[in-house]
Amino acid sequence: MFLILIGPPGVGKGTLGAALEAKYGALPISSGAIFRAEIEAQTDLGRMAKRYIDHGELVPNGVTIEMMNKRLRDPSIRKSGFVLDGFPRTVRQAEALDEMLFDLSFGLDKAISLEAPADLIVGRLAGRIGCTRCGEIYHSVTKPPKRDGICDRCNSPLFIREDDKPESIRERIRVFWETTAPVIDYYSKTGSLLKVDASHDPASTFHQVVAGLHLESK
Ligand code: AP5
Ligand code: MG
Repeated sequence: MFLILIGPPGVGKGTLGAALEAKYGALPISSGAIFRAEIEAQTDLGRMAKRYIDHGELVPNGVTIEMMNKRLRDPSIRKSGFVLDGFPRTVRQAEALDEMLFDLSFGLDKAISLEAPADLIVGRLAGRIGCTRCGEIYHSVTKPPKRDGICDRCNSPLFIREDDKPESIRERIRVFWETTAPVIDYYSKTGSLLKVDASHDPASTFHQVVAGLHLESK
């Protein structure tokens, strides 16, 4: 399974990626999560990316494409497949990904566009909490952890993302509509686009994807 998830911040890309991994074993690869790990490790790439991410802007294409090109060459991915979360985010990145997939002989199954109204996704981001270690995603109201501030899965501390401040959220949504929305047209033209209504609960999103991809749902 080789899938791309496209959608505005907070629409549920990470949540869907985790569900697809749990059910079908496809490896979720989030460009945002790779950048956050680089920031945490205080690498040169992390320091550079942080300047953009904290303000809700995109990290430049060159370094992003190079980072993802390296990541996709991990031999285990040929077997597991992938769910790309947050890459490509510009038409230039989509073109570069086409070249990588051609090089690796990976056939893309679908690019899934997750859609939900802006007020809903702002509410989702306002309550999001994530695990520092395993990446599990919670929400203070709709999916709270059993113990405050502790991950149910791995007992590690939970955190609120730096870019989940109201001003960064506004900028991330603006950038999505200006720069990333054309990527949806890019995949629509190649006939590989699946549009999904992500405005209901995570199970509804998951079931639409399973139906749209004609996957076994057992
Ligand atoms: P990234 O980490 O990709 O952030 P994002 O695109 O803004 O998306 P989010 O992770 O905020 O949301 P999500 O859609 O994953 O939602 P989630 O499942 O967590 O990127 C961060 C930054 O890195 C970018 O701004 C940019 O600077 C940089 N970057 C990354 N990739 C780049 C690239 N390719 N090029 C350049 N720069 C790049 O869900 C959100 C909340 O809602 C959770 O609390 C969850 O529990 C809840 N929820 C999820 N689904 C539902 C549902 N159906 N119903 C109710 N609640 C739900
Ligand atoms: Mg995410």
